Amino acid sequence: MAFVVAIDGPAGSGKGTITKLVGKKMGLINIDTGAMYRCVALECLNRNILPEELEKIEKVLEEIDIRFKRDDEKEIVFLNGNDVTGQIRSTIVNSNVAKFAAIKIIRDKMTPIQREMGKQADIIMEGRDIGTVVFPDADVKIFLDCSIEERANRRFKQNQEKGIKCTYEEVLESIKERHKLETEREVAPFVQAEDAIYVDSTKLTIEEVVKKIVEIIEEKRKSINK
Ligand code: DC
Repeated sequence: MAFVVAIDGPAGSGKGTITKLVGKKMGLINIDTGAMYRCVALECLNRNILPEELEKIEKVLEEIDIRFKRDDEKEIVFLNGNDVTGQIRSTIVNSNVAKFAAIKIIRDKMTPIQREMGKQADIIMEGRDIGTVVFPDADVKIFLDCSIEERANRRFKQNQEKGIKCTYEEVLESIKERHKLETEREVAPFVQAEDAIYVDSTKLTIEEVVKKIVEIIEEKRKSINK
């Protein structure tokens, strides 16, 4: 296994932005596993497949091809050859993805693909089950947390910037609902790995969190000489 950093945390903890910045600073390839679950959900939604239609989902999983392309500034996600970078962040995907991500056959397909990525290069992988299921032996495990109110606050501000109409209370409710689905599901529930280092981003700026995580990784890397 190459050098693997696992970052698990809830939506709105700043995980995506922070993982990208840390990866860039430390020469680690950044892998966003949430984008993979988002692609599966998008493909099922496009084909009008419901989460309970497991046979149809199985077929989707046989046919699906997810690829990441990176340049200096951004990451582009391709689903069966089409750029879906924007579509996988749409409101419809946001509100349905947790139901698809809870399905065992979907996780059983994604987990080995994610493990394979860790064999090929030094990586920083973000998700919900990276330190618990995908890489229980990761070199560094971080659990990046944030209060639910602050997460709703950040999402509400993002929506306002994008011109999406909603109230703070609606955003808070939807975050609570997703959190419940993710933490209470039977397969790979979102929990902190016992040996993960807990970082709370609630009162920190992005730069402060990046600095903290870089320090943790540097120290570990030195100690294991990898
Ligand atoms: O991190 P995100 O919001 O883009 O994740 C999208 C969905 O996928 C969300 O419902 C959590 C789920 N997910 C997961 O179950 N396991 C992962 N490793 C990554 C994401």
